[in-house]
Amino acid sequence: MRKDLHEENRLSWNAATVAHNSHKGDQAAFFRKGGSTLRPEELELLGDVEGLSIVHLQCNSGQDTLSLARLGAVMTGVDISDTAIDFARQLSQDSGIPATWQRMDVYDWLEETVQSEQRFDLVFCSYGAICWLSNLEVWARGINTILKPGGRFITVEFHPVMGMFNEKLERSYDYFVDGQPFTWEDGVNDYVAISREGLTPGNALEGIKEFKNPHRVHEFFWGIGQIVTALLAAGLQLTTLNEYPYSNGFKPFEQMQALPNRRWSVPEGQPNLPLMYAIAAQKPR
Ligand SMILES: C[S@@+](CC[C@H](N)C(=O)[O-])C[C@H]1O[C@@H](n2cnc3c(N)ncnc32)[C@H](O)[C@@H]1O
Repeated sequence: MRKDLHEENRLSWNAATVAHNSHKGDQAAFFRKGGSTLRPEELELLGDVEGLSIVHLQCNSGQDTLSLARLGAVMTGVDISDTAIDFARQLSQDSGIPATWQRMDVYDWLEETVQSEQRFDLVFCSYGAICWLSNLEVWARGINTILKPGGRFITVEFHPVMGMFNEKLERSYDYFVDGQPFTWEDGVNDYVAISREGLTPGNALEGIKEFKNPHRVHEFFWGIGQIVTALLAAGLQLTTLNEYPYSNGFKPFEQMQALPNRRWSVPEGQPNLPLMYAIAAQKPR
């Protein structure tokens, strides 16, 4: 595990989260009016969450966490970023949707929860979470341990194949890097401004302009095989592995085709690529 790098990532995420939220308008009003940030892919896999205890790992500013709470789940949101968790707490209060928030490294939170008696019906993470994990085995074992028998792990994620291309959609990076840290000196960027209409449903503001992150960041790229194998080795049973030829909200390349429902695919006429995947796995009863 590379907690030294996780700490550097915390600083980069703190700075980027301010920029990201600056474009999103009045999010409390969005939630008070019944808004939800969840997408059909995760809603289908999650099913009815009423009454379920769910931990949302790497919840950032808590928008999906609150959307799940609104559906009747008892939510805990965990994130390493101080700014994100402060924002989530305030949003929870201002929107009147309750949730429990923990500002912690996901590995520290898993370790602490494993030692406790708290167990969950469901562990959820999505859209840019797994690439920040420096050790898949420890993460998967932690998830398996904190689930109740029959409990589920669900993720909808950006496909690691997306990470092989630069913003001009030129093949630039290896697929097989085995989680070796990859350092971006310019830090977490303002992908909300870049993806604008994709990530600011109905309430975009101009917000911070030309954001420059002063803190570098480190990502850990894992292949689909490694992610699934870590979950299986931890004792979970795979029930779903989906791949999708589009990206929800996030626009990773300069030239992309806008699809309905704030989705993006490669430009028309180009061979398609897997841009997202989803996993559902269950702890045996
Ligand atoms: C792309 S965001 C996830 C967004 C999320 N899907 C949502 O609902 O908004 C990635 C998040 O992972 C968090 N993160 C990165 N490394 C972490 C770690 N070691 N422990 C906990 N959170 C971490 C970041 O602070 C950031 O909020």
